[in-house]
Amino acid sequence: MTQRVLVASNRGPVTYQFAADGTLTATRGGGGMVGGVSSGLAAVGPKGTVTWICAPLSDADRVLARQDPQALDPDGIPVRMLDIPQDIFDRAYNNVANSALWFVHHMLFDTPNQPQFGYQFRRDWEAYLAYNEAFADALADEALAGAPVPASGGVRVLIQDYHLSLAPRLLRERLDGLPDVGIGHFSHTPWAPPDYYRLLPRDVGRAVLDGMLGADRVGFHAGRWAAAFLDCCEVILGAEVHKGDPGGTGPAGRVRHRGRLTEVEVHPLGVDAPALQARALAGDVQAHVASLSRATGRRKLIVRVDRTELSKNIVRGLAAYRELLATRPEWHGRVVHLAFAYPSRSAIPEYRAYTDHMRRVAQEIVEEFRTPDWNPLMLEVRDDYPRSLAACALADVLLVNPIRDGMNLVAQEGPVLSERGCAVVLSREAGAAATLGDDALLVNPYDVSETAAALHQALAMPDTERRRRSAALAATAAASPPARWLGDQLASLDR
Ligand code: G6P
Repeated sequence: MTQRVLVASNRGPVTYQFAADGTLTATRGGGGMVGGVSSGLAAVGPKGTVTWICAPLSDADRVLARQDPQALDPDGIPVRMLDIPQDIFDRAYNNVANSALWFVHHMLFDTPNQPQFGYQFRRDWEAYLAYNEAFADALADEALAGAPVPASGGVRVLIQDYHLSLAPRLLRERLDGLPDVGIGHFSHTPWAPPDYYRLLPRDVGRAVLDGMLGADRVGFHAGRWAAAFLDCCEVILGAEVHKGDPGGTGPAGRVRHRGRLTEVEVHPLGVDAPALQARALAGDVQAHVASLSRATGRRKLIVRVDRTELSKNIVRGLAAYRELLATRPEWHGRVVHLAFAYPSRSAIPEYRAYTDHMRRVAQEIVEEFRTPDWNPLMLEVRDDYPRSLAACALADVLLVNPIRDGMNLVAQEGPVLSERGCAVVLSREAGAAATLGDDALLVNPYDVSETAAALHQALAMPDTERRRRSAALAATAAASPPARWLGDQLASLDR
C-alpha cells in the first residue's frame, strides 16, 4: 500500500535564480517551516510518495513554473511550482499573509495608525483567495491523479501556515465524496486571542477560520496557540467547541462547524540533533568558529540569530544589552554581543524601517562603549548559515526574546550546538517557552530591564549550572525531531 503525501506551502524547498549567463541555479528554501518539513519528510518512509506544492518566489521560479512545473528539489523530493501571476502573488504574500495575518497573529500593529482595511485591502483579499484556489486546484489534481484512492494507502495532505488558511476548505469542496483523503493544516505562527483577532474585517476573520476548519486536523506548536484558535472559533464563528487540556501536547480540542468535526492538536517541533551536530563539524562552520574566536578573543559571547523580523524584538534586545553595559560596568571589555540577522521580507516598508532602526541602535551602542581594544557589539545583516552555526557553537548566552513566536528553533538549536554549554534567555511569549521554560531564563520581551538582568544572570552563572541547563535544553529539543513531528501528524490523519 502506497500512501501519497502532498505538502503545500508558500515557500518550497527550492528556489531558482538566473545566473548572469542565463543558466539556472537552485538554492534551498530557508527558514524553520521549510527546514522542519524537509527533514520531517524522512518519516514518510519508503511506502510513501511525496509531492511538495509551492509558490514561485523568483523570476526564475516563474519561468520554470510555466515551462516545467515539476522541478526537483535538491533532496530528490518532487516539487511542483504553481504558475501564479506575480501581481496575485505579491498581493497575497506581502499584503495579506505578511502584512495582515502575520501582524495579527504576532500582535504587531501600531494600532493608532494601522491597520486600515479599505478598498485596496479588498483587492488584496481577492488575490489571496485566488492564490489559495490555485493551491487547492493543484492539490485536488494531485490527489485525484492517485485515484482510485481506496485501493491504495490513501492521500494525506499537509498544508502549511497562514498563507494557505483558505486552502483546506477549498480543497475539501473539490474532493467532495472522495474517501481516504486526510487534510491537515499546521500553523507555525502563534494564534491571536479573539480580542486582537477581531481587528480583521468580520468576513475575513470568519473566512480564515472557516477555511482552516475544512481540514480534518489543525495543528499548532504550543497549547496556547491551539487554545486561542479554539477561542476564536467559538467567539468569532459561533462554532461548537470542545476544549481539552490547554497545557499538553497532542489533542487540544475539537470544533464542530458546518456539520464537520475538526480536531485541534499540539505538535511541538524540535530539532534533528545528530544532523545538526554533524553539519556543525563541516569545514565551513569550523572556519567561522576559528575566525569568530579570533575576533572576539577570550571574552564571553552573547549570541542572537534571527531574521530581520519585527516580531523577533531585536531592537529591545539591543536596548537590554545597552542597559547591561550601562548598569554593570564589570562586563566592559569582558563580553561581546554577536547579533546576526538575515534579511527578510524587505518588500514591506515596516521591515525596512525596522532594519534601519536596528542598525542605528547598534551603532550608538558601539560608539558609546567601545574602547581601542574592545568592540562590544557586532551586528551583521546578511545570510550566512555556517557562520550562524559557528556563533551558536561558541555562545555562552543565547538571547531569544521575540514579542511572539510560534515556536522558535534557534532557542533549541543553540544548546544542541553549544560547545561549552549555553544559557538561554528566552521570551515567555515564544512557543518554545512551553517546553524549555524550566531550564531557560524566561523574560517578558517588553521588559528591557528584566532582560538586561537575565543577561547578567546568564553571564555570571556558574559553569556547572550553565552546562546542566544547556544539556537539559538540548535533550528537550532533541526529543521532538522533525521526523516525529511530521510522523505524529500523519499518524493522526490515519485515525
Ligand atoms: C517563519 C515562520 C513560518 C513562515 C515563514 C515564512 O519561518 O515561522 O511560519 O512560514 O517564516 O517566511 P518567509 O521568509 O517565507 O516569508
